[in-house]
Parts: sequence; C-alpha cells; structure tokens
Amino acid sequence: MIKVENVSKSFGGIHAVEDCSLEVATGSVTGLIGPNGAGKSTLFNIIAGLLPPDSGKILLDGEDVTGWPAHRLFHKGLARTFQIAQEFSRMTVIENLMAVPSGQSGENLFKAWFAWGKVVAEERALRERAREVLAQLRLTHLEREYAGNLSGGQKKLLELGRTMMIRPKVVLLDELGAGVNRTLLGEIAGEIERLNREHGYTFFVIEHDMDLIARLCQPVIVMAEGRVLTQGSMAEIRRNEAVIEAYLGARHHKQVGGADA
Ligand SMILES: Nc1ncnc2c1ncn2[C@@H]1O[C@H](COP(=O)(O)OP(=O)(O)OP(=O)(O)O)[C@@H](O)[C@H]1O
Ligand SMILES: [Mg+2]
Repeated sequence: MIKVENVSKSFGGIHAVEDCSLEVATGSVTGLIGPNGAGKSTLFNIIAGLLPPDSGKILLDGEDVTGWPAHRLFHKGLARTFQIAQEFSRMTVIENLMAVPSGQSGENLFKAWFAWGKVVAEERALRERAREVLAQLRLTHLEREYAGNLSGGQKKLLELGRTMMIRPKVVLLDELGAGVNRTLLGEIAGEIERLNREHGYTFFVIEHDMDLIARLCQPVIVMAEGRVLTQGSMAEIRRNEAVIEAYLGARHHKQVGGADA
C-alpha cells in the first residue's frame, strides 16, 4: 500500500530521516516505534504530503506520489489524523464529520448555483455517511454534542471518524494513545482492529505504548536516528539487541542532555 524508498529529510544540520526505506502491506496494521527524535513523525509528515522529502520516493498503491500535497493524497485514500482544531470545538460532532473536505459540489459556488438539487442530494449523502461513521464508532448519542465538550478519548474517536468519512485505504495514526486512559485506549484499539478486519483499512501506527503495539501491529518497524533499524513481530523486536541499545542509548542521551519531553 505504501512504499518508502530511500527517503531523506534534514532540518538545517539535523538528519531527521536518513535513507529510509520501508513498506506497509495492504491490509496490515503496521507499527512504527523508536526512541524520541528517531524521525517517526517526520517520516509520517513526508508520507502524508505535509513535508517534501529532500530525496527519495513515496509510492501509494503502486503510484509515485512523491511531493503530492496532502489534500490530493487524502482524496487518493491516504488519511492522517489531526487534533480537532480550536475552531471545530464549537461545532457539533456530526458537523465536524460533515466538514471533512470530500470534494462535494457544495464547495463550489458556481456549480452549486446551477445544480442545487445535486447539492441537496450530496448534503444528504454526507449526513448519511456521517451517521454511519458515528454508529460504527458508537458515538451516535453524541451526534449533537459540541466537539469541545467531548472527553479526550471521544475526541480521539472523532479524529478517527474524520478519516473514515472518505473511506480511506490507509490511515496514519501518530500517537493515538497520548493522553488517553487505558480503558478508552483499549476501546480505540478494538475499533482499529475492527476497521482493519471488517472494512479492510490498512493502518500505519506510531505509538510509544508497547502493549498497544504488541496487541495491534504486525509487523513492527523500528526507527532510530532517522534510519530503519529492523522490523519483525513484537516478540522478535523485544529480543533484538540493537533495538534495546537504541532505546537505552536514547534514554542515556536524555539523562545527559536533559529531558526534552
Ligand atoms: N520542523 C522541524 N524543524 C527542525 N527540526 C525538526 C523539525 N521536525 C523535527 N525535527 C527534528 O528532527 C528529529 C526527528 O524528529 P521527529 O519529530 O520526527 O521524531 P519522532 O520519532 O517523532 O520523536 P517523538 O517520539 O518524540 O515524537 C528530531 O531531532 C527533531 O528535533
Ligand atoms: Mg513524533
């Protein structure tokens, strides 16, 4: 589904991602782990079209999409979760879902003027899809709640819901579990498993919670210092000396250099 070929990205003197190659298989829930500063988020941003790589290639479903802007990739079926922005907190849950850009005619005033019936039909389809998504995520009872009033975990589900509006092929999740309590995290993990199994979504997941990674992901890819260190099952990764060293090394640097988190 996703192929990353020899991708590099520097910020000034920092080699955030260096000659990185990896693949995310169609239908998999692939994990990406590594110490702080390993380059995971930078790589995600490159895949999602938010950052151009300095060199290398990104393929999506066999097509070279290197340098494509995020919205174009989004419509190709590549979605990335974003925190619900401030301006969306005063919109209801269903409005948040319906606001996901889907290329509907209503966005184009000129078209809207001449095809009013079509706009109404598409608005209805959009609302129907939003209701389906809410039902799938078991958030129907919150349809009319303001997004700003949701709990941390419910906001995470809504973020996931926004990606589902386009029926994505692949969803990138960067630290889904951050700030979410364990019970809700378990529920969200269950949701990911279900979307993967029943709806065929491919997931690429960055997560620091190793239990969550172990439960969800196969394979797990390990990055350190901008490079792919290894990949395998979580059981294999846990026994890998180089991985243990990368984590210990990062912790050591942190102690020496001062915590950055
Ligand atoms: N926009 C930027 N400008 C300058 N340096 C950056 C920028 N984004 C990331 N970096 C640097 O690139 C390196 C990789 O950062 P990145 O955020 O990709 O790591 P990460 O693996 O996601 O870490 P974490 O687990 O802490 O989220 C770090 O040294 C970081 O400071
Ligand atoms: Mg990160």
